[in-house]
Amino acid sequence: MKLILIGYMGSGKSSVGKKLATVLKCPFIDLDAYIESQEQKTISQLFQQKGEIYFRKKERKYLEELLKGTAPIVLATGGGTPCYGDAMKYLVTHKDTRTVYLQCDLDTLTNRLFHEKDQRPLISHLNDKEALNDFIRKHLFERSFYYNQAELKVPVKHLNIDEVVEH
Ligand code: S3P
Repeated sequence: MKLILIGYMGSGKSSVGKKLATVLKCPFIDLDAYIESQEQKTISQLFQQKGEIYFRKKERKYLEELLKGTAPIVLATGGGTPCYGDAMKYLVTHKDTRTVYLQCDLDTLTNRLFHEKDQRPLISHLNDKEALNDFIRKHLFERSFYYNQAELKVPVKHLNIDEVVEH
C-alpha cells in the first residue's frame, strides 16, 4: 500500500508523512525533495530558471516514477501535485494507493506560511499578511475541488501531529 498525502502548502504533509512512515515502518518520500535531488536544483531555482510549466511536467514525471514500485511507501506530494492535468484521478485510481487530504483552515495556513514562504515561489513575493491571506483563500478554493476527491480527509486544525497520524 502507498499512502499519498495531499493538501495545501503548510498543511503538514512532510511532518505528518515522516512520522507516519516511522509508525508504519516503511520509507518516507517527499516529492519536492525527490525532484530537487533528481534535477540538482531547488524548487525555487526550477521555477525561476525553467518556469512553472517545466516544474509541473517534472512533478508529474517523478510522481509516476515513484508510484511504479511495489513496495509500501508514504509519499508527501507538493501542494499543487494533484491539481494539474488528471493527476488527482491518476492518484485515486492507481493500484495500491490511498490518498489522504490534510485539510487545514485558512488562518492556520496563513500564519504558518507567513514565516515559511521564502522557499515557496508561488507566495514568496507576498510580504503583506493580508495579501497572503487573500491569495491563499482564492487558491485554496480553486484547489479544494481536487483535494476533496481524496479517499480520506483529515481536518487537522485542532489535532497535533500524533493525532493526525492516528487518523
Ligand atoms: C507548490 C507547493 C510546494 C512546491 C512548489 C509548488 C504548490 O510544495 O511543490 O513550491 O503549487 O502548491 P509544499 O506543498 O510542500 O510547500
